[in-house]
Amino acid sequence: MTFELSPERQRRLQEILAHYSPNRRDAALLPALHLVQEQEGEISPEAMEYVAQLLRLAPVRVLEAVTFYSLFFQKRPAEQILWLCRSLPCRMQGCERVLAALVERFGLQREKSTPDGKFALYETECLAACDHAPVMMANETLYGRLDPEKAIALLEELNRGISPPSSVKPQLTKIGHPKERWLLYEGLTVPDMWTLRVYREHGGYRSLDKLFQIEPEELIRRVTYSGLRGRGGAGFSTGRKWSFVPKDVTPRYLCANADESEPGTFSNRYLLEYKPHLIIEGIICACWALQVHTAYIYVRGEFTLGKRRLEAAVEEAYEAGFLGKDILGSGFDLDIEIYSGAGAYICGEETALIESIEGRRGQPRSRPPFPATRGLFGQPTVVQNVETLSNLPLIVHYGADWYRKLGVIYRQTLPAVDPLNTGTKLYCISGHVNRPGVYEAELGLTARELIALAGGVRENRTIKAIQIGGPSGGCLPPEHLDAPLDFGPKLQELGAPLGAGGIIVFDDTTCMVDVARSFIGFFMKESCGKCTPCRFGTWQMYTLLDLIAVGRAYPSEIDLLEQLAETVGQTSLCGLGQAAPNIVKTTLKYFRQEYEAHVLEKRCPTGACEILRG
Ligand code: FES
Repeated sequence: MTFELSPERQRRLQEILAHYSPNRRDAALLPALHLVQEQEGEISPEAMEYVAQLLRLAPVRVLEAVTFYSLFFQKRPAEQILWLCRSLPCRMQGCERVLAALVERFGLQREKSTPDGKFALYETECLAACDHAPVMMANETLYGRLDPEKAIALLEELNRGISPPSSVKPQLTKIGHPKERWLLYEGLTVPDMWTLRVYREHGGYRSLDKLFQIEPEELIRRVTYSGLRGRGGAGFSTGRKWSFVPKDVTPRYLCANADESEPGTFSNRYLLEYKPHLIIEGIICACWALQVHTAYIYVRGEFTLGKRRLEAAVEEAYEAGFLGKDILGSGFDLDIEIYSGAGAYICGEETALIESIEGRRGQPRSRPPFPATRGLFGQPTVVQNVETLSNLPLIVHYGADWYRKLGVIYRQTLPAVDPLNTGTKLYCISGHVNRPGVYEAELGLTARELIALAGGVRENRTIKAIQIGGPSGGCLPPEHLDAPLDFGPKLQELGAPLGAGGIIVFDDTTCMVDVARSFIGFFMKESCGKCTPCRFGTWQMYTLLDLIAVGRAYPSEIDLLEQLAETVGQTSLCGLGQAAPNIVKTTLKYFRQEYEAHVLEKRCPTGACEILRG
């Protein structure tokens, strides 16, 4: 049986291929596979052969990609796929009950089709809608705040061919600034802010009036002086990062990272869906500073609404002369390509993201060389989170002096040339709070303040712990609620770096061993498998945590777990493996007595670990 793409999809693929030179056709691999799956619902061996021939790749290269990315299927599982989030914030809000109800009512089995072939249920990690936990995605639409009854009603509607609108509606609160300073807030309160017309009515693209009058070198200096730090996790100075890019090597590339997948983090999705033009405007600013003429936006595969709006926004920006040749008569050319991921958390790591755009498995590269000197297609490349980029129009428009005055802790002090904590941050808060959501505030807000803004802890229970920076960050007891949520040394010393700004609150019903097991289970599943410490170490940690949770570990295995966490952190190749043990380290540091209760007393202090209840 032979396979062929439809004429329309062949045309789209040819358009994509036209962007790449003949020796870079493999960069069209993931887009080609998306087109195949869009047409067939699966990627059959014949389709893989077809794609391999079209792109002149060895068939094994295609198979490698298909088997690596979780959104690709070699065989269509059912008419509709249900993706149920099983990450911790969704588990805390009852996704297990939803799962049990669906299994009982519809006979669903994990990763298997129902007898009539209509549905297949897949468990997935965070869908970046943790403020609406528990969440399920069906027909590329997110449904949140599910309970067993709502989930059953939803499936009955889907069964009748009705796709209800998404129940995930943004909830963002601004905290005390004039509206001009907001990255996101206006996007959520003004209808159609994702369109060029409305965005421009609210001051959109005004930074371009000044941008091209600033020399690129001067702009890099101003961004360094502003203190803007990367919002994607590392918190590194944006201006300094740009200064590492060699001036005499062309072409250079910018990759905007919108592959947000850290459980407890969901601000990038809102930016994409509600302010795509702000991201584009930020990319134009960065590309002018770096003299980059081609930028890629790597969008998480699950962000279908965000990708649609971004594509429409890019088209509008071209039509308005903000992209393309000779932007606004400046003589500067810039093209933007949107690249869709296919379900791999690791692609948020910058070198894995680059590998993915180059049409390979998203596996991190060894460094050096660093992307700034040798990145995408072997050329100098800056990978920058979309939230970071969204700050740039404000810095260009209002100036670096204005920007560096924002920041709770350091505002009163005389900042250094490259200060640590300036600007605002999109904090995401989820878990056991009354009003989970995105809260934009000056950097340095404390966890206590953020929890108060989020309506406090549910049912007025007491706080047991806060997870800062998502699973890659660390878990702190309530004694540290007054630590500033910023890039300063305090959180680092406590073992809980801010990361991308996801905060998960746990009340006193939470078992910390179970929290650690859940997060390590996440890393075990998401490890790309390239390096042994991460691939095997996360599995070993998970196995030990499982034994501890059910009261079957030896006392010495708590120490073994601690040693293992240290080793995995120190020897893994990339940030995923290096950060994975943080949850083990911090829960052992602050909640060791809970581990000991499970092991020595065969008892879960909260009663959350089922096997020990009896
Ligand atoms: Fe389920 Fe984020 S959407 S944990």
